[in-house]
Amino acid sequence: MALEHLPGKLKDADQAKLLDALRAVMEEAPLFTPTMPRSGKPMSVRMTNCGPLGWVTDERGYRYQPTHPDTGAPWPPMPDILLDTRRELAGYAHAPEACLVNVYGPDAQMGLHQDRDEQDFDAPVVSLSLGDTCLFRIGGTKRGDPTRSMRLASGDAVVLGGGARLAFHGVDRIIPGTSTLLPDGGRINLTLRRVTPP
Ligand code: SIN
Ligand code: FE2
Repeated sequence: MALEHLPGKLKDADQAKLLDALRAVMEEAPLFTPTMPRSGKPMSVRMTNCGPLGWVTDERGYRYQPTHPDTGAPWPPMPDILLDTRRELAGYAHAPEACLVNVYGPDAQMGLHQDRDEQDFDAPVVSLSLGDTCLFRIGGTKRGDPTRSMRLASGDAVVLGGGARLAFHGVDRIIPGTSTLLPDGGRINLTLRRVTPP
């Protein structure tokens, strides 16, 4: 399974720089509360996106779209520091089209799921974490496969590629007080995705 975990990939100065860039993204594209298809149940994370496409979910289902669901404006561009880091880690020639920004409060979590709303599964999904450590769960490509738990700390990168591109994954919980990067605590996770075939 081509799951790569790169602890401390982003040094402190780069984490601060990335956070500044994300604050500008969130100003232009405010966080929204995603809701589950059909049930309309709110997720516990808040999210936004940057890049030409953004991932959204509501009663109409999971999808990528070029505009913010509330403001109707195009998503802001991806900051250079994200593009540079992803270029270094992805081993994939074509640019990412979506960066999903998930913001976890101390009680937020994310159920086990696959990232499969993309048309291009050859491109790995590159994940970057900021703020409090989380317990991340990763399994195989079938829902019933055994899973294991790992900690993702501020600055860690994960690459889901090859046989792990469609691995089930989720976030069991946030471990409060494990980072001082975010003034109010919590965690931010970024996932960079190629959506369309190149
Ligand atoms: C996600 O699967 O969209 C987020 C994963 C994470 O928060 O680490
Ligand atoms: Fe995911």
